[in-house]
Amino acid sequence: MKAIKKAIIPVAGLGTRFLPITKTIPKEMLPIVDKPNLLYIIEEAVSAGIEDIILIQGRNKNSIEDFFDVSYELEDQLVKKNKHDLLNKIKDLKNMCNIISIRQKQALGLGHAVFCAQPIIGDNPFALLLGDEIMYTDENTPTVTKQLITHSLDHNVSTVATMHVPAEDVYKYGIIKTDELSKTRFKVLDVVEKPNPEDSPSDLALPGRYVFESDIFSYLKNTKPGKNGEIQLTDAMVTLAKNNGLEAITFKGLRYDAGDKFGFLQANIEFALRHPEIKEQLKKYLIKKSKELI
Ligand code: G1P
Repeated sequence: MKAIKKAIIPVAGLGTRFLPITKTIPKEMLPIVDKPNLLYIIEEAVSAGIEDIILIQGRNKNSIEDFFDVSYELEDQLVKKNKHDLLNKIKDLKNMCNIISIRQKQALGLGHAVFCAQPIIGDNPFALLLGDEIMYTDENTPTVTKQLITHSLDHNVSTVATMHVPAEDVYKYGIIKTDELSKTRFKVLDVVEKPNPEDSPSDLALPGRYVFESDIFSYLKNTKPGKNGEIQLTDAMVTLAKNNGLEAITFKGLRYDAGDKFGFLQANIEFALRHPEIKEQLKKYLIKKSKELI
């Protein structure tokens, strides 16, 4: 497999679970402490060696592009006021990677969103990161995308992240049927999008991190609308698994479901508890508050 330098991040969703705030603010720009949700995803990709990020955009998402662009007035003010620390925080953003945007003009499903990136990806393998999931790895652990890329290159096979979920949660995810190659490595035999618990092939869910060879595009092109009338990525993955092979690995790291209000709050609290400026203050507050609540 060729080196993996491109990643797709779909950002076209309407964010209805976070209305009313998402009426004007894209859900990808909601803050986790002091950074937009999307920046965590991009940092994960960049530290895995990704150079080109392809954002699959919807309408009303211009603030995302502005965030990664130059901000002349702000930078000028910060220089004049000698606020170099703050300046560095925003200056690095525009140099992190190439941000390329494509519009998905109709919301036809995740499979369709990914297919929109084909003209830019061409015949290169690529990573796909879904923004509703935030992954945390400490500084000594490769990011989840890096773990997938390493596995893909070592074994020359498309590779997706998987994790065990409770039976009552399988309806939220793509679920894989597998042959177990080891406790952490699986050969994917089938994928079912959001099954009922009684029909689920396993408890192994797809938490939104993938590395695919470009053949996935030819399968996506021929994928008919599936679950909920949408063109499902999981349906194309079934064909990829059968024709090219597909593996899944469990990963080292913590995963937050930031697409859900509770998961988003959890991510905020836990990232704040690691944040040098506020962690001590927050810890004291949480201890005091939990005593009051018990
Ligand atoms: C999508 C995918 C699903 C995957 C999930 C992870 O669903 O279709 O296979 O498990 O993301 O978040 P969505 O949550 O966008 O409905």
